[in-house]
Amino acid sequence: MRKFIPLQLLVGSMLVLSLAGCSESSDTPPWEASNPLIPIPDPPLGIGIDEVYAKLTDFPDPPTPERVRLGRWLFYDTRLSADNTISCATCHRPENAFSEPTPVSTGIDGQKGGRKAPSFTNQAWTLFPHFFWDGRSPSLEDQAGGPMINPIEMGTQTHDEVVERLGGIEGYAKYFEEAFGSQEVTIERVTKAIADFERTRMSGNSPWDQWQEAQYTGGDESIVSDEVKLGNDLFFGTARCNNCHLGQNFTDSDFHNLGVGWDPETQTLNDEGRYAVTKEEKDRGAFKTPSLRDISKHAPFMHDGSFATLKEVVEHYNIGGTPNPYLDDKVDFEKSDKLDLSEEDINALVKFMEALEGEGYQDTIPEAFPQ
Ligand code: HEC
Ligand code: HEC
Repeated sequence: MRKFIPLQLLVGSMLVLSLAGCSESSDTPPWEASNPLIPIPDPPLGIGIDEVYAKLTDFPDPPTPERVRLGRWLFYDTRLSADNTISCATCHRPENAFSEPTPVSTGIDGQKGGRKAPSFTNQAWTLFPHFFWDGRSPSLEDQAGGPMINPIEMGTQTHDEVVERLGGIEGYAKYFEEAFGSQEVTIERVTKAIADFERTRMSGNSPWDQWQEAQYTGGDESIVSDEVKLGNDLFFGTARCNNCHLGQNFTDSDFHNLGVGWDPETQTLNDEGRYAVTKEEKDRGAFKTPSLRDISKHAPFMHDGSFATLKEVVEHYNIGGTPNPYLDDKVDFEKSDKLDLSEEDINALVKFMEALEGEGYQDTIPEAFPQ
């Protein structure tokens, strides 16, 4: 059951592969070598394969190998930015699980934003369609259009300009045709292709997933240490982390204020978070619960990157967050029991999170792009 791949998808993409193979000798452009057509990947262990495929095929227009290939080029192509210096991957780096190792992002002309670039693995499906730390975007397509015309990210003035620039790159025509049936470049096609590439970035088969599996199949449970097992028990038990970090992607896709970014001296927040979207008082300083998969790949942590290590994060929960008028009841020790985690417990929780480092999403920047 776990390795089930819809036959149609597989056969369809193999056919395309072999067709592509036939024409290779004559007119295959050189940039295809580093971005060949490949089947839609098999979700890794732990990613509820049936659920994923139910969801992926639920899309009115599910990802195709052709769109994913086009999207992969577009995602890494700096020509989407005003001065050819910034691509999506400048801030969403494959080696950092598509997040980045800095507190906040640096966009065009060295301009800094106010938030950290989140990872987006396993976003093919989410409990609720909320993208960005404040959830202001309803879909990956909608989201992908934003950075291109954000003056401090990729810096182009309008989507028409992006479309015009891509339309002027002859080599791309073939791939728009292949993916969408005609050579026309539109912003809808650009964002759809990028979103489909993002949907195939799935992370699973971590040591923790393998241990979970081993418990059901009678396999080797020594794949993780006793410390990880203790961390697991705490995470799902007395440390109550799964009140918010739940499901296969360790997020409730909801918004909470942990007091991150609250300045006790000035009694102000560095960022209003979800409030900017809902205008509801309770949402002040509330941010989307991030996935914890591959978390150890992209320190520093939180929406403002203000925690350098996973240990600091756990210590923050162990003091009941930073007191402020909007603190979430689930972390507030005035509203819920104290955690009382020992040093040993804190270290075990860190080890547990490190065991969520998975595979399936890894990628490298293609060596060549359509010209
Ligand atoms: C200059 C850095 C930068 C660039 C370039 C950039 N991003 Fe982002 N990205 C961010 C930051 C910062 C956020 C979080 C912003 C927020 O929450 O307000 C973000 C958020 C996202 C999210 C939401 C993830 C989630 O879990 O909610 C996705 C998806 C995403 N970006 C994809 C892209 C794509 C696709 C591109 C290229 C078209 C791109 N980004 C270009 C910095 C960048
Ligand atoms: C009340 C809900 C809630 C609970 C309970 C909770 N978290 Fe979180 N967690 C969040 C939210 C929301 C954020 C992002 C907050 C921000 O950036 O302001 C977060 C961020 C994190 C991060 C940083 C993620 C990143 O991408 O930077 C880690 C690590 C983390 N939590 C681990 C834990 C652990 C371990 C526990 C249990 C001790 C726990 N969380 C309990 C909601 C929660």
